[in-house]
Amino acid sequence: MSEKTADQQGWTQTTESGIPVSSDEHSLSVGADGPILLHDHYLIEQMAAFNREMIPDRQPHAKGSGAFGTFETTQDVSRYTAAKFLQPGVKTEVAARFSTVAGEAGSPDTWRDPRGFALKFYTEDGNFDMVGNNTPIFFIRDPLKFQHFIHSQKRRVDNGLRDNDMQWDFWTLSPETAHQVTC
Ligand code: HEM
Repeated sequence: MSEKTADQQGWTQTTESGIPVSSDEHSLSVGADGPILLHDHYLIEQMAAFNREMIPDRQPHAKGSGAFGTFETTQDVSRYTAAKFLQPGVKTEVAARFSTVAGEAGSPDTWRDPRGFALKFYTEDGNFDMVGNNTPIFFIRDPLKFQHFIHSQKRRVDNGLRDNDMQWDFWTLSPETAHQVTC
C-alpha cells in the first residue's frame, strides 16, 4: 500500500459517502495560519474512523492461516450418515484453517501450544463447521472453566506478559487438566 496521499497520487479522495474532498493533506482552517475548523467533517470522519478501526483478536485461536480446497467422499459411509456431502463421490468446497491457541496475532509459531484445525464445508444444504485439536483429550470438561483457562494461558492485561504462575495455578487447581498437560 502506498503511503502517498490521494492528492500526491493524483486521484480523487472521497468521504465515506462518496463526496470528493478538497484536500487529503490540509484541514480547513481560518485563513492560512488560523485555527482548524470543527466543521471540517472530512477531518472528523478520518479521526472517528481511525479511533475505531482496530479489530480486537478473537480470544483463543487468534493466529492462524487457511486455504480453500475440495473435499471428496471417496468411501461409502452411507450406513452411518445421511448427510448429502458424505455420500460416495460427492465433492464439496471447503475452507480449512490451522491455528495456534494461546498466541495472539503475530505471536511465534514456536511457542508450545496445541494446534487447531477448523473446516467449513460449503454443502448444498448449508455450511457445516467442524473443529479439531491435535490432542487426544481436552483440558477441561466444564465450559464454565474455559474463560479462566484461556485467560491463564494468554498475556496478562496489566503487564502484557505471559505468567507461568497463572498457568500452573490453573492446571494444578484443576486436576482434570493433568492428562492433557502431560501429553
Ligand atoms: C469447553 C470447551 C470449549 C469452549 C468453551 C471453546 C470455545 C472456543 C471459542 C470461544 C473459540 C473462538 C471462536 C471465535 O472467536 O470465532 C474457539 C475456537 C476454536 N476451538 Fe474451541 N472451545 C472448546 C473446546 C474445543 C475443543 C474440544 C476443540 C477441538 C477438539 C476446539 C477447537 C477449536 C478450534 C479449532 C477453534 C478455532 C476455529 C477457527 O479456526 O475458526 N475447541 N473455541
